[in-house]
Amino acid sequence: MKLFRPLLVGLGAMALGLTAHAAGGAKHAHAPDDGWPFAKVPAGQLDKESVQRGFQVYKEVCSTCHSMKLLSYRNLGEKGGPFYSDEYPNANDNPLVKAIAAEVEILDPNPDENGDPVYRPAIPADTFRSPYPNDQAAMAANGGAMPPDLSVITKARGHGAEGEGASYIYSLMTGYKDDKIKTKVGEDGLNVNYIEFDDGETVGTLTQPTGLYYNPYFAGDATPQWDGDPRHVPYGGFLAMAPQLPDGRVEYIDGTEATTSQMAYDVAQFLQWAGDPKQGQRKSLALPVMIYLVLLSILLWFSYKRIWRNVEH
Ligand code: HEC
Repeated sequence: MKLFRPLLVGLGAMALGLTAHAAGGAKHAHAPDDGWPFAKVPAGQLDKESVQRGFQVYKEVCSTCHSMKLLSYRNLGEKGGPFYSDEYPNANDNPLVKAIAAEVEILDPNPDENGDPVYRPAIPADTFRSPYPNDQAAMAANGGAMPPDLSVITKARGHGAEGEGASYIYSLMTGYKDDKIKTKVGEDGLNVNYIEFDDGETVGTLTQPTGLYYNPYFAGDATPQWDGDPRHVPYGGFLAMAPQLPDGRVEYIDGTEATTSQMAYDVAQFLQWAGDPKQGQRKSLALPVMIYLVLLSILLWFSYKRIWRNVEH
């Protein structure tokens, strides 16, 4: 029996996994129509201007709730970063990076000589300022849900394939059904938000719990809120983040029209860069390295032939 226990546990876990899958599951994230420039083979690169706009979206929208603790302002001006310039190989000297940092006021880790806290404008070496002093404050401000740190979110939500994490961000940010939400008065006299589905198989209404928002790409199970055919529960679940990117939410410095999908595209590409700031350099090395290796192999082959030329074997 002892031997069977792990087996049973395994089977139990499998059964659970299967039922969870049967109850909808999240919709598979997809890349934008034209794909990701950085995912093009053999050595696609991030679209630098898009990453710059994405930083603007992060700064003006996402940074009010989400930290990016692994990033310093300096990173923005390093090679491969959105504000890198050949004129300033040392990002600490880059005036744009300095100006971006100086816009933010941070608490200096060192108090003054009386032990009082010191607030000062950030410098390039400082890490991105976090919106909340600690996790408790972050959750208290967001109805008990924790806005995750976005430093490596594209890695955390990707499964290894190039661009998967960025596609998840893009799909999530554009996937809300906010234009479909209707309101009715519930049995208790309070307003209830709901979404009507009628697309062939998935027919019914989905009640949206207060403070939560339906998104087909967010992992979850919408069964308890679904009144239609239980075999066709809508994909996805509910999350505590309201839709963030209505058309025109930011006014792009470069004049690009700020549609929902444009902003989602840009911020996804910014987060893709942030999750792996050296990816561009690594990729631009890939081709030369391959050519070098091929040439080296040919050279080795001929020198081998030459060295062993007069040896019987
Ligand atoms: C008003 C606060 C707020 C703003 C602004 C905000 N978020 Fe969120 N976000 C949240 C909260 C809260 C959660 C956690 C939701 C949950 O777990 O139910 C979250 C979760 C997320 C997640 C994680 C989803 C997952 O798979 O766990 C991503 C990605 C995300 N936000 C991206 C963004 C981006 C990109 C922006 C800017 C365009 C942004 N958020 C703006 C509050 C916010």
